[in-house]
Amino acid sequence: MTSQTGLQVSAPPALVRCRTLVEPALRAAVRGLHPLPRRMASFSLGWCDADGTPSAAPGGKGVRQALAVLGAEAVGAAGDVAVPAAVAVELVHTFSLVHDDIMDGDERRRHRDTAWKAFGTGPAVLTGDALFALAVQTLARTGGEHGGEAVRLLAEALGELVHGQADDLLFEARPWVGPDAVGISEYRAMAGRKTGSLLGCATALGPVLAGAPPLLVGALAEAGRQLGLAFQAVDDLLGIWGDPLTTGKPVHSDLRRRKKTLPVLAAMALDPAAGRRLAALLGPGGPVEEADARRAADLVEEAGGRAFALAEARRHAAAAHACLRGVPLAEHAVGELVALSEYLVERQL
Ligand code: IPE
Ligand code: MG
Ligand code: MG
Repeated sequence: MTSQTGLQVSAPPALVRCRTLVEPALRAAVRGLHPLPRRMASFSLGWCDADGTPSAAPGGKGVRQALAVLGAEAVGAAGDVAVPAAVAVELVHTFSLVHDDIMDGDERRRHRDTAWKAFGTGPAVLTGDALFALAVQTLARTGGEHGGEAVRLLAEALGELVHGQADDLLFEARPWVGPDAVGISEYRAMAGRKTGSLLGCATALGPVLAGAPPLLVGALAEAGRQLGLAFQAVDDLLGIWGDPLTTGKPVHSDLRRRKKTLPVLAAMALDPAAGRRLAALLGPGGPVEEADARRAADLVEEAGGRAFALAEARRHAAAAHACLRGVPLAEHAVGELVALSEYLVERQL
């Protein structure tokens, strides 16, 4: 696989190891759902086709579940301790994507129809709700001695995620230029909430279930949040320049939907003349024509927006590493967290 910068990057082994550890509990939790949301949840997790036929579609990367397991291992616990946390964050992530695709009107994800496109909006809303409820139940029922504290942390992350999604939706109605335009610092606050909150929560939850001291929980939470910011900057890059063959989404998808993503906002801030041309191309209206989206992508790149977003991703990944190096943690797990962060920044998918 080739990265944003042409480097060869392959998925770190920890992703597969953690997925193998967590999957039986994740499948057992989903089996407990009502058959209607169970089918749609299984579809969204890549386990079956829309008609229920088992499939091995590429589900998610499993980043959040890996962060939960590696967080526990980083404080010296066995990864198993983190399994309820890993299941909960993976369920929340799936719920958030099912609802996000409705909000964003996106029809494709991971090379397949999105849940609302395949099953209808009402059933997809219900599936998201079911996954949300199941996440909280799983943590409350199986989190053990520290389950209460873990549920409190998850509830806070959920509140933040909703806040971030609300900001993101409101950004869509804001102008590209002028006093009401979205600034980069506002964008960062939104991304920290919509994406950083759950990654920070994932990294903290394993240690919480393991009964780790607050200093270590805090450092891991902040490392996860920084990784979330790096992850979102790369997600924004892929939303413009990602290869549809690897992203599973249409080419220039975020530009065609006029989304206010980091590379575009940065381009506008760096080069006001390019910004005015971009505002004309991406101004209000229906989907942007492909030729205009291509022109806009070139303008963003020429103005420095692409390089800015990549530098931003790397800066947040470095901040995550500093958090991990600042407290005493198990070296092996830290190494795996660092390898995971490097993969997240250099990935194509
Ligand atoms: C999704 O944000 C964040 C949450 C679901 C909380 P985006 O809308 O930017 O992400 P993608 O590109 O659809 O995955
Ligand atoms: Mg989306
Ligand atoms: Mg969205």
